[in-house]
This record gives sequence, C-alpha cells and structure tokens, in this order.
Amino acid sequence: MVKRQVGLLRVWVVAVLVAAGSMPSAWAQQRWLPIAEDGLRDPASPAVRLLQPPEEALSKLEPDTAGNQVRWVKALDKGQIEPRSSILPGTEVEVYDGDVYLNLRGGMPPVRFPHREHTLWLACSNCHDEIFKKEPGSNKLSMFVILQGEQCGVCHGAVAFPLTECSRCHNTTREEALAAVERQQAERAAAKAKGAAR
Ligand code: HEC
Ligand code: HEC
Ligand code: HEC
Repeated sequence: MVKRQVGLLRVWVVAVLVAAGSMPSAWAQQRWLPIAEDGLRDPASPAVRLLQPPEEALSKLEPDTAGNQVRWVKALDKGQIEPRSSILPGTEVEVYDGDVYLNLRGGMPPVRFPHREHTLWLACSNCHDEIFKKEPGSNKLSMFVILQGEQCGVCHGAVAFPLTECSRCHNTTREEALAAVERQQAERAAAKAKGAAR
C-alpha cells in the first residue's frame, strides 16, 4: 500500500513538472481570462457584462506566479484588501499566532503550518475539529490524502494557492523546525510550571 502511494506520488510529481514547464508561455499570454471566456460562467448571462473584469481588480494586488496570480497573504498584510469577516456587525475575529511544525521526519523539508495566516481569514471552526483535530499526531496527515482534496487539500488547490507550490508548505529546514519545536516545548513547560506554582 505504502509502495503504491509513493509510486502514485512520483507519477503525479512528474505530471506537475511537465505541466509547470509548459506554463510560462500560456501564462504570459493571458494571466486572467475575461469572465465570458473563463469556462465557469454562462457567457450568455447578462451578469457577464456587469461583473468587474478579474484583471481590473487582481492586477493591482501583490503578484504571484501560481493559482489566481495574487499573493493573498501579502495583499492582506499590506492593507491592499480588507476582507469583511462577517455580514453580521460586531463579529470578533480570533487570530491565533501559533505555528505547527509537521513532517519532521519525512524526505521533503518540514511544513510550518502558520495559524496566523489562516485565522486572518478563517474561523477556528473552518478546520477544528472536522478537518483537523488539535492534538498533534492525531490527524494522520499525508500528501497522498492531501492530493485527493482532503486535509490541506480541502482548500489548497481549490480556494487557496495550489498544491504545485511545494515549497510554500514544505517551507522550513529540518534544523529550523527542530529548534522551533524545542523552543515551543520549553515555553509550554515554563507556562505549565508557572501555572502550577500559583
Ligand atoms: C498545502 C500544503 C502542501 C503543499 C502545497 C505540498 N505539501 Fe507535501 N505535505 C504536506 C503535509 C501537511 C504533509 C504531511 C506531513 C506529515 O506527514 O506530518 C506532506 C507530506 C509530503 C510527503 C511525505 C513525507 C515526506 O516528506 O516524504 C511528500 C513526499 C510530499 N509532501 C511531497 C510534496 C510535493 C512534491 C509537493 C509539490 C508538488 C508538495 N508535497 C506540496 C503539505 C503540503
Ligand atoms: C486552516 C485550518 C486551521 C484553522 C482555521 C485553525 N487551525 Fe488550529 N490547527 C490546524 C492544524 C493543521 C493543526 C495541527 C494538527 C496536528 O498537529 O496534527 C492545528 C493545531 C492546533 C492546536 C494545537 C497546536 C498548538 O498550536 O497548540 C491548537 C491549540 C489550535 N490548533 C488552535 C486553533 C485556534 C484557537 C484556531 C482559531 C483561532 C485555529 N486553531 C484555527 C489547522 C487550523
Ligand atoms: C479551510 C481552508 C484551508 C485549509 C484546510 C488549509 N489552508 Fe492554508 N491557506 C488557506 C487560505 C485561504 C490561505 C491564504 C490564501 C492563499 O495564500 O492562497 C492559506 C495560506 C497558507 C499559507 C501561507 C501562504 C503565504 O503566502 O505565505 C501556508 C504556508 C499554508 N496555507 C499551508 C497550509 C497547510 C500546510 C495546510 C494543512 C496542514 C493548510 N494550509 C490548510 C486556507 C486553508
């Protein structure tokens, strides 16, 4: 089973590299398709003439080379966009600034999952506890499952940057990740000791 998964992953990676190789030329020609040509909407609909052309809106934001060509986290950090967190007035946004280090023992570089960059847009309940339980090690994370549109793949490749951007998730060296995990453990132990002393 494991062997079959690795085999499939390899085939997939090769397919991605081939696709990436043929991308730049097509991309240079047309970064954003007009709404009537995007294949998503009915070109005969009157809405096609009313909606803002994607290029008009997106070309002003932080550029990216993948997905819909906008580096959304940078656009948000630079204040280029200010998304409404809810249609209900007075909704509190809960931002959690804790990194989780995953894949410390894999062949690929470790993954630093940043809560901050997610909770700027998403509520905890978007992920907890249906997609991810909070307890480390309880989720059986796997690239194979992610590529099938589960776990991180529920959003990445659908509404967030695509899975072809390996290094955006596999974003940390093993040394950095292990040092960070050690720091986190020390901080947690200190916080616990402080709580116990009270
Ligand atoms: C959206 C984030 C994300 C992207 C993008 C992503 N990965 Fe992963 N990857 C993960 C996570 C999370 C795991 C599982 C970590 C664990 O096992 O704890 C993983 C695990 C893996 C593993 C198995 C563990 C290992 O290191 O051997 C491989 C291989 C892998 N990814 C390769 C890739 C390749 C190649 C790409 C690009 C084509 C890619 N990944 C893109 C998040 C991502
Ligand atoms: C985009 C998905 C996502 C969102 C949104 C999210 N989390 Fe998480 N959370 C994760 C993942 C992935 C893990 C790691 C689970 C593992 O180790 O297997 C995690 C782990 C945790 C942990 C345990 C690790 C740690 O840092 O202590 C806590 C606590 C946590 N989340 C709190 C929150 C809170 C509070 C919110 C909302 C403010 C939130 N999370 C929103 C994906 C998310
Ligand atoms: C519920 C939806 C959702 C899930 C699940 C999710 N993400 Fe994300 N992620 C987002 C959104 C939305 C953004 C911001 C938009 C973008 O960067 O495309 C983001 C951004 C990120 C960024 C920052 C990108 C940057 O430009 O700096 C990283 C890294 C990342 N995700 C990794 C992961 C990993 C690893 C997992 C799985 C453990 C995961 N995400 C699961 C929605 C999700």
